[in-house]
Amino acid sequence: MKIYKNYNITVIGAGHVGLVTAACFSELGNKVICVDNDKNKISKLNKLIMPFYEPDLEKLVLKNFKKRLFFSNSLDYGIRNSQIIFIAVGTPPKEDGSSDLSAIEIISREIALKLNSYKLIVEKSTVPVQTGQKIKETILRYKKNNVEFDIASNPEFLREGSAVYDFFNPDRIVVGTDSKKAKEILKNLYAPLKSKIIITDINTAEIIKHASNSFLAAKISFINAVARICDLAGANVKDVAYALGLDKRIGKYFLDAGIGYGGFCFPKDLEAFLYISKKLGYEFGLLSEVKKINETQKLYFVEKIKEKLWILKDKKIAILGLSFKPNTDDLRFAPSIDIINYLLKEGASISAYDPKSNEAAKKIFKDNIYFAKNIYDAVKNSDCICFLTEWEEFKKIDFKKIKKLLKTPIIADGRNMFNRKELEFLGFEYIGIGT
Ligand code: UGA
Repeated sequence: MKIYKNYNITVIGAGHVGLVTAACFSELGNKVICVDNDKNKISKLNKLIMPFYEPDLEKLVLKNFKKRLFFSNSLDYGIRNSQIIFIAVGTPPKEDGSSDLSAIEIISREIALKLNSYKLIVEKSTVPVQTGQKIKETILRYKKNNVEFDIASNPEFLREGSAVYDFFNPDRIVVGTDSKKAKEILKNLYAPLKSKIIITDINTAEIIKHASNSFLAAKISFINAVARICDLAGANVKDVAYALGLDKRIGKYFLDAGIGYGGFCFPKDLEAFLYISKKLGYEFGLLSEVKKINETQKLYFVEKIKEKLWILKDKKIAILGLSFKPNTDDLRFAPSIDIINYLLKEGASISAYDPKSNEAAKKIFKDNIYFAKNIYDAVKNSDCICFLTEWEEFKKIDFKKIKKLLKTPIIADGRNMFNRKELEFLGFEYIGIGT
C-alpha cells in the first residue's frame, strides 16, 4: 500500500467550502484545524452540531473529530500550528458587484504577524484575479521576520449537495503558484485523490475559476433562452438539449432549462467577473446577457402561471422546493425567493414545503406564507402546484392522490421534472419551460 505524506493544515472559514475541505483533508489522514471567528458556529461544531446540511459531511466530521479534525476560534492557534493554511472565508458581493475582500486582507495581516515557521498560504475562496498577488504583498509588508512563505491559488469546484463526493472525485485539481516547494507540497497533499493536477501561475488559476463558473452559468442561460424560443415555436427543449448534449464538443451537463440558476456562487461570481473584467479594461457583454436572461427567467415562469390562472389574487399556490438546488438547505439567491415574492405581490396565498429548508425559509418569509409539514399538506386546496427544486422526494409523488387534494389540477414545473403527456393523461394541466 502506498503511504501518502500528511500535513498539519489550518482551514480558515467553516462555511460550505471550508468545512467540507477541512473534513475531507482530515479523512485523507492530515491533521486539520478548522478556524472560524463565529463563536457560536465553532461551539456548535465542537458539540458536533452541523451549521448546514450537506450529504455525508456529518459522517466525516464525526469520524475524524478530535482525532485529526479540530475546531477553534483562534486564528493565532491555527496559524502557528500548521504548515499549510487554506483561506476559505466568504467574499460577499458589494453593492457595485465587486467582492468584499476585507476578511482576506485581515487574515493576510494576521498571518504576517504570526509567521513562526514556513507556511504555504492557499486561497480557496472564490476571489477576483490578482488577489493572490495582493495577499503576497500584504504579508511581505506586515511580516516581522525572515521566515519564508509561499502563496498558491487552489480554486474549489465543489457543488453544494454533492461537495464531499466532488472533493474525492474531482475532474481536475488546479494549482496556481510560482514556487517549486508549494507545487510539491500541494501535489503530495492531493496525491491520494489520483486526479489530474493542472499547474499554472496564480493569476491563471484565478481566471480558471472565474471562467468555469461563468461558462456553466452561460450554458444554463443559453438553454433557457432556447426554451423560450421553443415555447414560441411549439418545440420541446428537452429533446433539443438531449441532441445538443450528445455532441461531445458541447457536452450533456448544465443544459437543463428551468427557472434559472441561484445559489451563492453563480450569481455573485458572474457579477465579480463582470466587474473585474471591466476594471481590467474589457466589457464582458456576453456575461451581462447571461445575467439578464437568468434574472428574467423567474418572472417568465410567473407570467406563465398568470396566463393559466388569469388572476392570482386569492388563489392558493403550493410551492414544492425552496432551496436553490436539491440536497442542500441553502436559500441564498434561490429563485424560489423572487418567485414567491412575485406571487405574494399579486395577492396569491402560498403554502410551501421543502425537505430541508423550511426552517431557513421561515426566517425570510416569517408568517407571510404557510409552511407545510409535507407535500400533501402543502397542496391541499391549492389552485396550482409549483415545483421549484427537483428533490428526489418529489419525483416519487402519488399524483392520483395529489389530484384529489387540489382545487384545480394545475402543475407548473419550474424544473421540467415531469412528463407533460403523462400528467395530462392523469387529468392535469401542465406548465413547463420550453416543453
Ligand atoms: C457551482 C459550481 O457548479 C461548482 O463547480 C463551484 O465550485 C461552485 O459553484 C462554487 O463556485 O462554489 P453550486 O452553486 O453548488 O456549484 O451548484 P450547481 O450544481 O452548479 O447549480 C447552480 C444552479 O444552477 C442551481 O440553482 C441549479 O438548479 C442551476 N442549474 C444547474 C440549472 O438551472 N440547470 C442546469 O442544467 C444545471
